[in-house]
Amino acid sequence: MSIFHKIDKDKIPRHIAIIMDGNGRWAKSKGKPRVFGHNEGVKTVREITEVSAKIGVEYLTLYAFSTENWKRPAYEVNALMSLLVSTIDKEMDTLMKNNIKLEAIGNITELPSRSYKSLLKGIERTKDNDRMTLVLALNYSGRWDILNAVNTIIKNNSTSPVDEKIFKEYLSTAKYPDPELLIRTSGEIRLSNFLLWESAYSELYFTDIKWPDFKEESLYEAIYEYQNRERRFGKTSEQLKK
Ligand code: IPE
Ligand code: IPE
Ligand code: MG
Repeated sequence: MSIFHKIDKDKIPRHIAIIMDGNGRWAKSKGKPRVFGHNEGVKTVREITEVSAKIGVEYLTLYAFSTENWKRPAYEVNALMSLLVSTIDKEMDTLMKNNIKLEAIGNITELPSRSYKSLLKGIERTKDNDRMTLVLALNYSGRWDILNAVNTIIKNNSTSPVDEKIFKEYLSTAKYPDPELLIRTSGEIRLSNFLLWESAYSELYFTDIKWPDFKEESLYEAIYEYQNRERRFGKTSEQLKK
């Protein structure tokens, strides 16, 4: 039976962030080239996006390409960049049908111009949708974002001290609440430079399932586990029960 019925529908995380990992190994385990895994991963993106919107997630952030991923062989980088274009074009109807807004974080102006343009087109076309925001992290890294914020603050010649709230306003994630739940697939237990500031108090969920095999039910399992964690934010368990 699905674990869906055990989920408290009033406690769905507002923001879920996912490190979509394991496409290459998934393909390799089937004797296929890595790029085959990336293509298959797009199907998971569609499924998880639709399910998230359906259950009331407000923001879904997907780590699609890190600033470190440029170090991969050129043919794989090119394949990922083309996949971005074809996916955005192909999925536009699904996003419109589901009333989902597309946004992006990361150094997107440095993407190849075709990818950049198609991304901007998708963002523009979906900008009035308001059921859920799908945030693609592209050419993104947490350190890049933090340094960007620091440099903007310096450029503004600000002399007053910066607190957490002000600092957050300079991050590319300024508009979004911090993710309550951060998921990584494929068995790797690290953040790989994802949402370093924002994940300070996220519940981290690691699963061995590789991204192409991460399905609707896998998301429910992650949410169920999240709902059964005690988020103490520095307090004691006793304080929370008062
Ligand atoms: C995640 O899968 C997709 C991207 C990083 C773009 P990987 O390509 O990292 O797959 P593995 O980790 O090599 O299996
Ligand atoms: C992290 O995955 C980046 C994305 C999912 C886009 P990687 O597969 O690139 O991470 P590392 O290098 O193994 O840590
Ligand atoms: Mg990987």
